[in-house]
Amino acid sequence: IRMVLIGPPGAGKGTQAPNLVKRFNAAHLATGDMLRSQVSKGTELGLEAKKIMDKGGLVSDDIMVNMIKDELLNNAACKNGFILDGFPRTIPQAEKLDKMLAEQGRPLEKAVELKVDDDLLVARITGRLIHPASGRSYHKLFNPPKTDMVDDITGEPLIQRSDDNVDALKKRLNAYHEQTEPIVDFYKKTGIWEGVDAAQPPATVWESILKCIGKN
Ligand code: AP5
Ligand code: ZN
Repeated sequence: IRMVLIGPPGAGKGTQAPNLVKRFNAAHLATGDMLRSQVSKGTELGLEAKKIMDKGGLVSDDIMVNMIKDELLNNAACKNGFILDGFPRTIPQAEKLDKMLAEQGRPLEKAVELKVDDDLLVARITGRLIHPASGRSYHKLFNPPKTDMVDDITGEPLIQRSDDNVDALKKRLNAYHEQTEPIVDFYKKTGIWEGVDAAQPPATVWESILKCIGKN
């Protein structure tokens, strides 16, 4: 499958993507994870990106489009399809993605919006724990790891993201409503949009996603 997951910070994009990967044998392309990996490697791009991410802003369209282009062309795992998580995040990104995929003869099939009201997101974001190497996310209350502060699969330590605080979240939500939400209309126009109630528990959200992917 070739699809996009759209939703505000904490909507569950990173939680649901692994389900899709497993089910469809597709690649998970998460631009936030890619940027965080640059940050931990200490690259020039990572250093620049970290400043922006910690303030809840958006990294430039050019950088992000090139990052995704590189993945789509060079990551062999994308041959069976891909789940885009965190990209596109602006109208120019969405337009460039469409053009790129049209040239490659493999257009998007679905754009699934995970819909949650802002007031539910504070608790999700402030309680989140992640496994940096894989991007797997947990929640202190809603989805705790089997062992305290440790990744279920690798046994490695879990950490809190540096942008997971109330201040940065406010700015990330603003950026979402102002710059990302317009892509919902963009995909409604191209006819591939589906909306899912993402305020439900993770297993229910997963059922809803499967249901709307089945539609043509
Ligand atoms: P990114 O990493 O994409 O962050 P985000 O969009 O803010 O989204 P999150 O990762 O916070 O939310 P999620 O939907 O994945 O939630 P999760 O499933 O983990 O981007 C980070 C930054 O990078 C951006 O701010 C920007 O600066 C930059 N960036 C990235 N891409 C860019 C681009 N294309 N252009 C420009 N800049 C870009 O769930 C959250 C928590 O809730 C977890 O603890 C989870 O366990 C829990 N949870 C999940 N689902 C449920 C549920 N149904 N019920 C209860 N709890 C749940
Ligand atoms: Zn995420």
